[in-house]
Formats: sequence, structure tokens, C-alpha cells
Amino acid sequence: MATREKPTLDPAVARAVIDPASYAAWDPLLDIFDRLREEMPVAWAESQDDHVHPPFWLVTRYDDVMRMSKDNATFLNNPHTVVFSLTEGIEFAKKMTGGSEHLVASLVTFDGATHMKYRKLTQEWFMPKNLRTVEEEIRGIAHAAVDRLLEGGNEADFVKAVSAPYPLHVVMQIMGVPEEDEPRMLMLTQQLFGGQDDDLNQSGIKDLPPEAITQLVAGAVADFEAYFAKLTAERRANPTADVASTIANAVIDGEPLNDRDMMGYYIILAAAGHDTTSASTAGAMLALARDPEQWARVKSDRSLLPGIVEEAIRWTTPVQHFMRTAAEDTEVGGQAIAKGDWLMMNYVAANHDPAHFENPRKFDAARSPNRHLAFGAGAHQCLGLHLARLEMRILFETLLDRIESVELAGEPARSKSTFVGGLKALPLRFTAA
Ligand code: HEM
Repeated sequence: MATREKPTLDPAVARAVIDPASYAAWDPLLDIFDRLREEMPVAWAESQDDHVHPPFWLVTRYDDVMRMSKDNATFLNNPHTVVFSLTEGIEFAKKMTGGSEHLVASLVTFDGATHMKYRKLTQEWFMPKNLRTVEEEIRGIAHAAVDRLLEGGNEADFVKAVSAPYPLHVVMQIMGVPEEDEPRMLMLTQQLFGGQDDDLNQSGIKDLPPEAITQLVAGAVADFEAYFAKLTAERRANPTADVASTIANAVIDGEPLNDRDMMGYYIILAAAGHDTTSASTAGAMLALARDPEQWARVKSDRSLLPGIVEEAIRWTTPVQHFMRTAAEDTEVGGQAIAKGDWLMMNYVAANHDPAHFENPRKFDAARSPNRHLAFGAGAHQCLGLHLARLEMRILFETLLDRIESVELAGEPARSKSTFVGGLKALPLRFTAA
């Protein structure tokens, strides 16, 4: 029998779990999740102070997050937004779109048969077999990143030199965006999704008055559309092997995709493909820089690398949550959930669940099995997971070949973000091989 009362979060905890700063501080948040998994694994979170948001269920146990992820008929990606947002953000999206809570319609905002049709268009492209055709190209990008790292002497910020630009460059190459247009794409993505961390919010969007933000976002959408309309026309005239050609020439129910849908596809790939892999890459480097013996071991035995990559993805959990909406009255972990309720699947909490991961805060490259939830599960499971692993493996092969030893040269810092988070600074000292 599911319980009907709502186990409600203490106000300070409810505030902490949606505070971007908690995700930067990290350990105190993990302490909160440890308590919640024990005492209130499915907890009702209500608005606190001036941080007004629709109430939601916070789900922290691995088994519950896994079950929800796989039950795509009961836990929908509609109509509520799939990324936690304050009410003002939701109202803003509705104003921009004429009623939808999703600022951009894309794979993550579709459900059921529509989602499958859109996903199938590029699914093949992201499978290991096809990715082998871009391996050498990625290796070239990895070498260029390591050149940049070594250029400035024996100290550098790994995030600035390598982990931030490298995955962005890979995803842009794959999409068919020429290198000279990358800064524009980065700026547009930031303008569209804002940015909760002051250091990373280079577009300065948060400091603007609301009307100016509306104009800026509308301008970014128009600019994106115009850019990709041109790229689409080029790829229809002269198709190549890149993702842009696949999308430009895709047909759903006998019709080519319209400009809006194509833009949504490009935006989700551009947005999903860089900050995420940057975070797990920087996390892997942090773990290795703190453990010189592990660096030396993997330098001589590359078979250890896949374990390091997988553990770095769990340990960092770059995508910290996704939201779902209950399609009907149901239950999660014995707690009654009403039709229409909004739920947060917290992947950070799930990936630190001791029921599945012994000593979960420890970076353990030998962890086996390591069935983490950092890529989600079910119908929406990360489309780019093979690409992310491949990018990390190739980059670390290159680093291990070209760098003899590495250590921390200062304090690493995490970004303030409730959604995609990770290191924003990782000062390193190293010697070239
Ligand atoms: C979806 C994580 C890298 C493209 C997702 C989801 C997560 C995630 C948690 C949602 C899963 C769910 O709802 O069950 C990550 C992590 C990455 C990463 C941790 C790096 C370590 C990438 C890359 C790409 C990519 C490199 C491609 C360029 C996508 C797309 C979706 C997605 C298109 C939506 C899939 C759908 O809704 O069907 N990712 N991702 N991701 N990811 Fe990734």
C-alpha cells in the first residue's frame, strides 16, 4: 500500500537541493542525500523564500531512479519542463514559445512514438561502429588540445586548456560546424540556456532586465535558425558523412524536418555534447592528479583506462538531474504520486547510493560492476554515451603518451549549477614525456 501523506522536506534542505551553490560545495549535499535515502527517499520539496518553483518529488535512491527512467509510459518528459527551473524561468519559456514549458523542442522533450521517430534519425550515427570512422579525427583534436596544454610551460588550468574546448570542438566537427563559427555557437548556447555560475556566464545574460533577456533569447533562437537553415541547404545540395547531413536529409512520415525541429536537434546535440564530457574529463584528471601511482600504473597498462573513464563518469555525474511528470496516479518507492506531479530524478544521489556502490565517494577505477546512472536509462538514455567514452579514452591515451607525471598546482573549483555541473578550474603542474 502506498503512503498518501506527503513526507515534506525541511525548508533548509528543500532550499539546499535546488541551490546551484550546493552543487559547487558538493560534500555537504552528498551528506543530505545520504540522510534522505535513509529517512525520506521520495520527498516533497516546496518553494522557499523568494526561490519560487512548482513543488516536486525529490527521488534519491538508485532503484527508484532506475525504475522511473525505464518506465517511460508512466514518467513522461511532458508537459512540465525536464530541467528544474524556478517559476519565473518556466513563465519565460511559456512566453517565448506560446505556452510550452520547453524553451526548445528536442529529443528530451518528446515522448512515446514521436520521440522514437526522432531518435532513430541519428541513433545509428552515434553507435560504436560508425564512431570508428571519426576516431582519427578525434585523435587529431586530442593532440591539438594537449599541444595547448604543453604550450604554456609546465603549469596550466586543465579546464581552460583541455577539458572545456576539446569536447566542444569534437561535437562541432561531428555536427559539421566550421571551426571559425564555434565561438558564435558557444555564445548562442549560453544565451539560450543562461548560466547559473557567474564565472561561466560570459554572456552576462543574468544581469540584464527581463525585457532585454527576452529579446536576447529571441535573437539567439533566430540566429540559430538562420545559421542552421544555411547549413541544411548546403548539406541538402552536397551531403557529407556528418550529422548535419543526416539531419538535413532526414524524413519523418514522408516529410523532411521543419526548421524548428531541425534547430531543436542541433541545439540538443550542441548543448548535450560539450559541458557534460568536459566535466567527466576534468573529473578523471583530478582523480589521476591526486594519485600519482594510479597515473604511473595506467601509463604502463592501458587496459585500466576504460575502468577509469567509467568511474570518472559516475564519480562526477555531470548531468545532475532530469525531471519527469507522472502520467497517472502511481507510486515511487511506496510513496503515492498523483497524476501531473513533477519529479526530480537526482542522478548525483542515485550514483552515491551505498546499496549499489560501496564507499561511493571514493574514486575506485576497479569498481565492478559499475552500472551507474550518469547516462540515465530507458528510452531517453544518453544518445552520445559511446561518443563520450570514446572522446575520453582517446584524450587520455594522448595525455598518457605525452605527459610523464602530473600533480595538482592549486585548489580545483566546481561550478554552481543544479543541472550540468563539474569542475570549472583544475590547476595542474606536469612534466612532458
Ligand atoms: C541524454 C548524460 C554526453 C547527447 C542524456 C541524459 C543524460 C545524459 C543523463 C538523459 C537520460 C535520460 O533521460 O534517461 C550525459 C553525460 C555525458 C553525455 C554524463 C558525458 C559524460 C553526451 C554527448 C552527446 C550527448 C557527447 C552527443 C553529442 C545526448 C542526447 C540526449 C542525451 C541527444 C537526449 C536523448 C533522448 O532524449 O533520447 N545525456 N551525456 N550526450 N544526451 Fe548525453
